[in-house]
Amino acid sequence: MEFKRNILITGGAGFIGSHVVRLFVNKYPEYRIVNLDKLTYAGNLANLKDIENAPNYVFVRADICDFDTVCRIFSEYGIDGVIHLAAESHVDRSIKDPFTFARTNVLGTLSLLQAARNSWNGDWNGKLFYHISTDEVYGALKADGGFFTEETKYDPHSPYSASKASSDHFVRSFHDTYGMPTIVTNCSNNYGPYQFPEKLIPLFINNIRHGKPLPVYGTGENVRDWLYVEDHARAIDLIFHKGKVAETYNIGGFNEWRNIDLIHVIIKTADRLLGNPEGTSEHLIKFVTDRAGHDLRYAIDSRKLKSELGWEPSLQFEEGIEKTIRWYLDNQPWMDNITSGEYEKYYDEMYNNR
Ligand code: NAD
Ligand code: TYD
Repeated sequence: MEFKRNILITGGAGFIGSHVVRLFVNKYPEYRIVNLDKLTYAGNLANLKDIENAPNYVFVRADICDFDTVCRIFSEYGIDGVIHLAAESHVDRSIKDPFTFARTNVLGTLSLLQAARNSWNGDWNGKLFYHISTDEVYGALKADGGFFTEETKYDPHSPYSASKASSDHFVRSFHDTYGMPTIVTNCSNNYGPYQFPEKLIPLFINNIRHGKPLPVYGTGENVRDWLYVEDHARAIDLIFHKGKVAETYNIGGFNEWRNIDLIHVIIKTADRLLGNPEGTSEHLIKFVTDRAGHDLRYAIDSRKLKSELGWEPSLQFEEGIEKTIRWYLDNQPWMDNITSGEYEKYYDEMYNNR
């Protein structure tokens, strides 16, 4: 079958990537979606069970740093668009192991860029390299210190955000130096189904379910700006099709929460859904040593995306967080498969020969 487009989505077995893959596979049967993922600890094909047999979907287990394999994928599938999400994504892990972050996030991105450049060979017509990044590259805001705009200077503090900042610069350099059509977007914290339970929201939901402590870093006064993951995926779809080449767009829902306030909401909602009397799990809160270099506040100004492309988040936070908590409680086998480590054994056996 001839496909209208052949799109490479990297990191499609991860949290956000799986929502993007699902959206594109279902919405665009005329496109072939090639999901390239290494299946690190964060990759989980169970996130894509519902679309794995779709005729316009292909999964390839590979490392984005493996340049020869990436080049082969470009030529084998005639890739004309890239949506690049593969990355090491957890700040705490980056503090313990910064090298892995530099390797995947910086060198891996460069490997993809170079493979795209070789494959497209100066014919940029109908091509796009779209890089998914984070608001964390902008650094930290004061408690009452305004918002990150597309003009805010990069000031990353963690090895994670430093590696993402570097990859953003490489992507822009391929536009400026070679003329490659590129777009970069910087999004705020995502939440929703299929997030790996090392991140605040799924970790805390799971710990409440098991009556385990809820480790709050520092005083819990750090602020994050939360966006429902499907709204991010919709923004990516819109920008991939309608975004202006060489532009940057910030993505966020103007939805700031102090960690401690969010944690109270999670406890209250989870207790209600579990049938516990109100306040049952409050005693699980445990203030622990702060994260090194913990950014105080992130807050995204996404007015450019709204005014130029008409994007707005579709879900109110109250609705989104309840939906999310309900999803994790209703999908306990998904969570247990991860916490037991079973999911990794399965892939190692299945993809041993690749
Ligand atoms: P995730 O950790 O859930 O998933 C990352 C995926 O990338 C996994 O499937 C993993 O197997 C894959 N991967 C890792 N290293 C790889 C490699 N070397 N080769 C191929 N695949 C590899 O991450 P996420 O939260 O879904 O984030 C996706 C992207 O969005 C990242 O680039 C991240 O920086 C960005 N982002 C995330 C957030 C957020 O709140 N989670 C916010 C803004 C931007
Ligand atoms: P996280 O989900 O790791 O996202 P990020 O660090 O990329 O913003 O953390 C969200 C916030 O919650 C952040 O301020 C750190 C804090 N946090 C805790 O207090 N305890 C935890 O166990 C975790 C994982 C995070």
